[in-house]
Amino acid sequence: MITPKIEKVLRGGQTWPPPIWLMRQAGRYLPEYRVVRAKAGNFLNLCSSPELAAEVTLQPIKRFDLDAAIVFADILLIASALGQKLRFDDVHGPILEPAISKYGVGVLNSSASNDMLDPVCQTIQLVRSELDTSKSVIGFCGGPWTVATYMVAGHSSVDQSATRLFAYKNPSDFCFLIDRLVEISAKYMISQAKAGANILKIFDSWAGVLPEMEFERWVIEPTRKLVEIVRANVEDVTIIGFPRGAGDNYESYLIKTGVDALALDTQISENLGRHLQEKAPIQGNLDPIALEAGGEALSRAVDRVLDQFGSGPFVFNLGHGIGKNTPIDHVHELINRVRNSVDPCSWK
Ligand code: CP3
Repeated sequence: MITPKIEKVLRGGQTWPPPIWLMRQAGRYLPEYRVVRAKAGNFLNLCSSPELAAEVTLQPIKRFDLDAAIVFADILLIASALGQKLRFDDVHGPILEPAISKYGVGVLNSSASNDMLDPVCQTIQLVRSELDTSKSVIGFCGGPWTVATYMVAGHSSVDQSATRLFAYKNPSDFCFLIDRLVEISAKYMISQAKAGANILKIFDSWAGVLPEMEFERWVIEPTRKLVEIVRANVEDVTIIGFPRGAGDNYESYLIKTGVDALALDTQISENLGRHLQEKAPIQGNLDPIALEAGGEALSRAVDRVLDQFGSGPFVFNLGHGIGKNTPIDHVHELINRVRNSVDPCSWK
């Protein structure tokens, strides 16, 4: 059996054109997604209905022939497994109750419930059985720090100040929460790999708000443990880390956590990005707003990403999730431009 392109790259190999998938590739910008979501009633029902979730997971592959399918789920399902009531409000986004900032860590279950997590593994099984073997299935979880920011505040926030404050004032309670998250996230990732996920990704979307010492304590150390437990239990899975906004801390994250590859955000400098690519395969980092803009701005942005990272191990992606107002034609333009680009190594 041939190794799918992305897995080859994540193990340090190179292919041209680079493999491509897009963060949040299944979602509201696709009319076929909106139909299935309406059928499910709401987002959480969709996540816990394996047939429907598998259908939306595969929609972007059918439409764009992307190189990987990422299972349709959410990083916050874990919070509900730990005992918080989770809902998604169309205006305010996720709401988690009771919030830990108000009621403390006593709100957590003593033993986690798998009611929201088991369906995700069933979705992975369905997707793996329907997807061509040349394409990879990606499973994921949130970084413990990022999931904790929602669990403590009880909702999204701009600077995660409620959680930073809680962690400074109640370090042992916060440590308890992070340890619970590491333990359940590791089990969840192992189950996803056993269900058929070939690649696992850790989304630490709010890693960038922490000073270096706290980054070490609440991002690096928990992620290191999580990666260690997963590796001790599954062979042959590659792990992508996404400490979004980590800037200069990206390098110590890579070295100390043991992830195989790094997903880069849009803000990383060219120098740092290239330096990191000498140490590990890179995924990223087109600005999703350039994708929404389309035209010349998109072409220039795509060429720049290819120029920066095309000559090393590289998976083309966005630097953050695709926006719900993104025109579908722009996604086609992006993929065509990447697939028809000239291999920089052919000039050497
Ligand atoms: O990438 C994919 O296609 C797979 C599915 C996926 C979703 N969420 C589906 C989703 C993935 C990988 C995520 C990760 C996720 N979820 C993150 C990390 C990545 C990032 O964006 O920084 C975070 C922080 C969340 C938490 C979350 N989920 C928020 C804050 C929101 C509300 C804001 C929004 O975009 O609507 C969600 C909802 C959500 N997760 C939707 C989707 C498709 C929209 C739900 C809908 O109304 O249909």
